[in-house]
Amino acid sequence: MPLVFRTLLFGFVTLLVVLLIIDDIAEVEEETANIGHSKKMNLHRLIPKPHRKAAVHVNPTALTTASAETYRHRPIYNNTAKHSSNSWTFNKTLSHLIRKNILRFLDPERDISILKGTLKPGDIIHYVFDRHSTTNISENLYRLLPTVSPMKNQHYRRCAIVGNSGILLNSSCGPEIDSHDFVIRCNLAPVEEYFQDVGWRTNLVTMNPSVVQRAFQDLVTDEWKERFLRRLRSLSGSVLWIPAFMAKGGEERVEWALRLILLHTVDIRTAFPSLRLLHAVRGYWLTNNVHIKRPTTGLLMYTMATRFCEEIHLYGFWPFPLDPQGKPVKYHYYDTLKYEYTSSSSPHTMPLEFRTLSTLHRQGALRLHTGVCGIQQRPQKDLQSK
Ligand SMILES: *[C@@H]1O[C@H](CO)[C@@H](O)[C@H](O)[C@H]1NC(C)=O
Ligand SMILES: *[C@@H]1O[C@H](CO)[C@@H](O)[C@H](O)[C@H]1NC(C)=O
Ligand SMILES: *[C@@H]1O[C@H](CO)[C@@H](O)[C@H](O)[C@H]1NC(C)=O
Ligand SMILES: *[C@@H]1O[C@H](CO)[C@@H](O)[C@H](O)[C@H]1NC(C)=O
Repeated sequence: MPLVFRTLLFGFVTLLVVLLIIDDIAEVEEETANIGHSKKMNLHRLIPKPHRKAAVHVNPTALTTASAETYRHRPIYNNTAKHSSNSWTFNKTLSHLIRKNILRFLDPERDISILKGTLKPGDIIHYVFDRHSTTNISENLYRLLPTVSPMKNQHYRRCAIVGNSGILLNSSCGPEIDSHDFVIRCNLAPVEEYFQDVGWRTNLVTMNPSVVQRAFQDLVTDEWKERFLRRLRSLSGSVLWIPAFMAKGGEERVEWALRLILLHTVDIRTAFPSLRLLHAVRGYWLTNNVHIKRPTTGLLMYTMATRFCEEIHLYGFWPFPLDPQGKPVKYHYYDTLKYEYTSSSSPHTMPLEFRTLSTLHRQGALRLHTGVCGIQQRPQKDLQSK
């Protein structure tokens, strides 16, 4: 009976297709289920399927050489001396290789923000770190989602990423930082009172929801609201990058901030990182044997900037309580916050990140600036002593 046979064959093929689809769905579910349990995270699930094979072989930078060093309070002086020396040369080949490998894990042009077309008001979002907590997409947040990536087709020759370490104080790095084609800052750090050391220029600035509380007193009074607005207005035209869906607890703060932005039609371009960004960034570094717990904003910015920038210069990255001369360094250049850099309870692994960046600096992939800038260099004896 050819008809029966054909029917059977058709049924069999259909079943096979259905099974394959189910298999694929199961894999996707496993991927999302894993997100909440970062400790047990299976790296292969983080790598987009077509790239898995290739990603396993990624090792352009031999970063492992740095991870054997252990030091707690200060980095090794010899490395530090190299940061401020003039012997650094940019390795374009390496920088391109790194960009290519990062692109296997994430596309920063896309992952820098959720786009309007992909969500609607009322949609429920699971927090990246607190998978069991959810939040709704508010009308205000929806209105402020970009329709195209704020970094679409943007490329720059020299970029600066400015971390917030107190190492910047008295560095005179302001003019040098401002001379870059694109300047990224973190957590809406103040610049006005510190411009000689940190510069003015800002093309992209991040804002964790907690900043609204820490730096702007939850906008409780009109005066704090005004301060917040003044800070935002000074950013005119820049990208304000708000990681709103990382950890629960910040939704009200984000909402207050967004309401002010809309009410006063502040000229900034808001962006909200994609839900996969953090895991993809972590996946990239894990594959390179850098076992970070939760990437800092600084490392996130470096990882993303590789997509848009040729030469990347880092300022204000210094996760140690003492400077190379043994003088105390503030955690932030602008406040009195204290921080235990090496505490195991801290979500970040800053000294490890710093060692990684130092290795990349030595290889010429990026440039880490930890000394003073301009004609007035640190006295030579400081570089050679100790
Ligand atoms: C720094 O380099 C000198 C020689 O260049 C060496 O004797 C010293 O042990 C090094 N210090 C550290 C901490 O590696
Ligand atoms: C630049 O990096 C590439 C890739 O790691 C390496 O092969 C090359 O030797 C480096 N060039 C210089 C001048 O260090
Ligand atoms: C979120 O949306 C759901 C369904 O639309 C609704 O029941 C819930 O009250 C909303 N929660 C908040 C906090 O807006
Ligand atoms: C910066 O320089 C001023 C003036 O010399 C000094 O009072 C201050 O302590 C210095 N700050 C730091 C963090 O080195």
